[in-house]
This record gives sequence, structure tokens and C-alpha cells, in this order.
Amino acid sequence: MTETENILHVDLGERSYDIPVGAGLLEKAGPYFKPLLKNNQVVIVTDENVGPIYLDRLTRVLEGEGIICKSVTLPAGEATKSISNFEILVEKILSFGIERGTTLVALGGGVIGDLTGFAAASLLRGIDFIQVPTTLLSQVDSSVGGKTGINAKAGKNLIGAFHQPRLVLIDTESLNTLPKRELLAGYAEVVKYGLIGDVAFFNWLEEKGEDLINGDQALRAEAILKSCAAKADVVAQDEKEGGVRALLNLGHTFGHALEKECGYDGDLLHGEAVSIGMVMAYEFCAQQGLCSQEDSLRVKRYLQRLDMPVDLSGLPCQDWTADLLMKHMMKDKKVKDGKVTFVLVRAIGDAYLDRNVEDGDLKRYLDDLLTRSKA
Ligand SMILES: NC(=O)c1ccc[n+]([C@@H]2O[C@H](COP(=O)([O-])OP(=O)(O)OC[C@H]3O[C@@H](n4cnc5c(N)ncnc54)[C@H](O)[C@@H]3O)[C@@H](O)[C@H]2O)c1
Ligand SMILES: [Zn+2]
Repeated sequence: MTETENILHVDLGERSYDIPVGAGLLEKAGPYFKPLLKNNQVVIVTDENVGPIYLDRLTRVLEGEGIICKSVTLPAGEATKSISNFEILVEKILSFGIERGTTLVALGGGVIGDLTGFAAASLLRGIDFIQVPTTLLSQVDSSVGGKTGINAKAGKNLIGAFHQPRLVLIDTESLNTLPKRELLAGYAEVVKYGLIGDVAFFNWLEEKGEDLINGDQALRAEAILKSCAAKADVVAQDEKEGGVRALLNLGHTFGHALEKECGYDGDLLHGEAVSIGMVMAYEFCAQQGLCSQEDSLRVKRYLQRLDMPVDLSGLPCQDWTADLLMKHMMKDKKVKDGKVTFVLVRAIGDAYLDRNVEDGDLKRYLDDLLTRSKA
């Protein structure tokens, strides 16, 4: 087994934690877990796709260290992040007779991470939890930053809490079993970090992206560490989200509007919407003369080369209008006093926030895009 191992330390005072990243780390989970556990008891939460592949392995490794493991396996998919599954989960965990010192372990993608983190934030008024993210999206995004939560009828992620994990253990080999489409969706968030503030990282991704996607473990570890560091850096400046953290939403305001129209049942994955949304952000800025046409095209061509979606083709957009998409954008979480905070770009690696985007400019861009897409 190849072993490359690196650790990122996230500095949040007494809530600081480590993110070790490497190939084969699942097999070495014991020594990472052991010093953090308050009472030698963990409850592993996973889903029906991840459990059959990784649950026995993780349980065996932890039990080998004398850690007592219980587990709960929930259905896979976004629908699991619901109030009813939250109830099932916490009741099940309580039925194990847990104590304040028990640690929850989220073994799975962002769905399991968000739900388990929220259970940890609420059970007995807050217990510890450890993330073992198994999708690229959860490794580079959802398991860093401390946001946990579930969905409400009124919208996604509306019920939740900030609760930092004690450890995020990332085994790059877990991506070997992830469907390619999910891998690419997560990769959109990796590219995002380069586009927001690190042109050198984007250049590196341009060079290494294909190999990384095709399974090079060392490149994966490097990109994941870099992404986690970028997110942790922004979060450290703005833990509870008021200012710079909004930069992480590059491509998301446009993307959310597309997700809203397509539904959240897998027709358009979040990362796919972000991929298209980032292209839209660059195209819009190029049209406004805020960034160069060249940078805008470079972003689009790169994502396209890696088989990521970059436009509305394939989406059911025949009846969409600029007004419809703008209505969804206005309902974005980031709206304050009726104004949307847009993440705009001056160049690759240079994003900034703007709360004064003119409706007319936006409408003109969206009209153009929709006309092109329906042609
Ligand atoms: N908390 C945050 O800051 C934050 C940030 C971004 C996204 N999120 C949330 O993350 C969720 C999306 O996460 P996701 O994209 O990881 O989705 P997911 O958890 O649904 O995982 C995607 C699919 O891959 C399967 N899977 C996971 N790991 C696998 C593996 N190693 N091998 C084979 N199959 C595997 C899952 O069972 C699922 O079917 C959303 O609910 C979103 O709201 C949260
Ligand atoms: Zn995202």
C-alpha cells in the first residue's frame, strides 16, 4: 500500500483539530482516534453505499485498538438529511446508552457528515465527532469549517449548528470506489479554490488535473490538503460567516438557481451546478469588462477538457427565463436587505464580493446565455 501522509492543522484555539490526508489512512485510523476519545466508545454513522465497503474495515481497525464500536447505517442520498432521519439517528444512538464522552464518527460523504455533525452538536447538548469523509466534495469542502445540519421543507441546510470536528481523517484511496461523476463534482470545488485566490494552484491543476482524476494518490493528497488549507484559512478569518467566507460561494449563486430548477434528486449534482456556475460568473464578469475574455475562456476550456459541465446543455432549460433564475438567486441564503452578495472575479485567482450588481446587467447576461442554450 502506498503511504504518503500529510497533516494540516486547523487552528481554532481550543477547538483546533488536525486533518491528516494520505493513501491508506483508514487502516491507520486507530492511533489518530485513540488520543482524542474521552471514553473509548464510538458510534460510526454511515450510509448504504459506503457501509458495505468501509464499515467493517474501520470497525476492525478501531476494535484492534480496544475501541468499542457501534454503528448506524442510513439510506444513501440527500433525502437522508431530513428531520425524520435525524430522529431515527439520534434515537438509535441514544438506545446504545451513550455518554457525554462518546464520540460519533461520520463515515461517508457530505450527507452523512452534515447529519452526524448535527447529531453530535445536539445529543446531550453536544458531544465530540470525527469526520472520515469518503467523497472528494466532503474531503475538500463539507468536512472543513464546522457547519453541520439538515434540510427543512422550506429549503436546504436550514436547520443546523456550528460544531467543529475533533479530527478529519482523509484516506485518498476511498475515492477509488467513488463513481466518476461524483468525483468530478467534488473536483469543481477544488478548482474553485484556485479561482478564488490562488492562480498558482489553478496552473498546477491545469497541469496535473487529469492524472489526479485518474487516480494518482500523491496528487490527490496534495490537492486535498491545498483545498482544505484554503478553506480553513478563510474559515479562520470568518468562522461564523459574515464576510470573506462568502468568497467560497464563487459559482454558487448561479449554481443554486440551476439546482433549484433541476431539483435535488441527482439530475444535477451540486458540484456540477458549481462547475457551470463558475463559468457563468466568469462569463458575466467578462461581459461586464471586469475580467478578461481570455481568463473566462481558459476556465471554461479547462473544465470542459475534464468532462465537467460548463453550460446549460443537457439541462431542461427550454422554459427558463432570466427572471426565473434571478428570482431563485434572490432567495439565496446570502441575500441581505434584499441584495445578493455576488462573488465576482478580476482574473483567475482573484475573486471579490460585490453587493451592487445591477439587475439589468445580470438580466442581459442571462438572456444571452439562455438564447445561446436554446438555439
Ligand atoms: N457542511 C458544509 O459546509 C457543506 C459544504 C458543502 C456541501 N455540504 C453538503 O454535502 C452534501 C453533499 O455531499 P456529497 O457530495 O459528499 O454527497 P453524498 O454524501 O450524498 O455522497 C454522494 C454519493 O456517493 C456515495 N459515496 C460516498 N462515498 C463513497 C465511496 N467512497 N465510494 C462509493 N460511493 C460513495 C454516497 O453513498 C452517495 O450516494 C450536501 O448535503 C451538501 O449540502 C455541506
Ligand atoms: Zn459547494
